[in-house]
Amino acid sequence: MRILLVSCSTHKEGNSYLALKEAERGVRDKGIETEWLHLNEYFFSNGTEKEYLSDLIQKVQSSDGLIFGTPVYFGAWSSLAQRFYEYLKENKVDLFKKVVGFVVVGAKRNGGQETTITFAGWDLMGLGACMVNDGYPVSQFGGSCVGGLIGDVLNDKEGLQMSFNTGKRVAETAMILNAGYMSGDTRMFIWPPNHKKMNRCRGCADCPSKELFDKNEDFKCRFSDDEMPEIHKQLMESNLISPTIYDLRFFERTRYLRRDNYRLTYHVAWIPEPKWIPLFIKQNCILCREKPNQYAWLVSTGKEKLTLEKQVYQPIGYKNPYIK
Ligand SMILES: Cc1cc2nc3c(=O)[nH]c(=O)nc-3n(C[C@H](O)[C@H](O)[C@H](O)COP(=O)(O)O)c2cc1C
Repeated sequence: MRILLVSCSTHKEGNSYLALKEAERGVRDKGIETEWLHLNEYFFSNGTEKEYLSDLIQKVQSSDGLIFGTPVYFGAWSSLAQRFYEYLKENKVDLFKKVVGFVVVGAKRNGGQETTITFAGWDLMGLGACMVNDGYPVSQFGGSCVGGLIGDVLNDKEGLQMSFNTGKRVAETAMILNAGYMSGDTRMFIWPPNHKKMNRCRGCADCPSKELFDKNEDFKCRFSDDEMPEIHKQLMESNLISPTIYDLRFFERTRYLRRDNYRLTYHVAWIPEPKWIPLFIKQNCILCREKPNQYAWLVSTGKEKLTLEKQVYQPIGYKNPYIK
């Protein structure tokens, strides 16, 4: 198995390359090989392109997953990355069964790292790939790093850690897809369910409830006076989530699932519009736009064949009474 590291900056050894090297360490940590693809060797700064790009396509096709390391330019990925994406699209390269992840570097803290990952992920999922984030312990969008001058990213320990984790998560997901079968059952959960009564999340500091946590209850939100306990069961039995109506009240209500060690980690979410990406990526799901049934089968059969790392939730910015 092999993960392709796609370096998307004109700076050969710039910040996004350095962050991508951390992701490479994460991939290797899982015992998976890596290969590098430096886009500036194919698509040049003066707008011209290498004459034969067949080796580029061959590298993509023979990989099990891709991690993009890109600078943030105006809140989006680089034009090198965009040209690469267009090239794959023009040549009808199918990314089905491949997983993508992102490590991105901007000069500013809120410089558009998240918009970059959201829209890059949307485009690549359109070519058939599935998308994951950095996984536990923080489960955000991927490797979101800060660094302006070349080398500055090395001071962003948090960003580099998320990049490392992105490497691990992409590698693990690739292993699951590789081990899975292209047959099985689809247990689809239509999101939101047809509920008549749904409370809003009250944002409890000790979520999930300590009492229910200690009792090892499966449903761990202390508020059960609506339809959520029943919906919880249906959701837990499903392997594919199909979002329909953008109901944020219901989404808020699933916060206890994220905080209960990412209960939706191996659910596939079938993404109909980009605005759903932040919601499901933070729930630690595996996202796709194409072949949702096939991804659901591969993930649910593949994960049974592997010993997976437990996804342990880590509170950030507050304390939970039962997490030391
Ligand atoms: C054309 C251009 C646009 C940029 N736009 C942004 C931006 O929107 N947000 C941000 O945080 N940084 C922005 N930057 C800064 C780069 O993202 C930052 O310097 C990054 O570390 C470069 O990565 P590299 O060394 O891998 O090329 C921009 C830089 C350039 C050249």
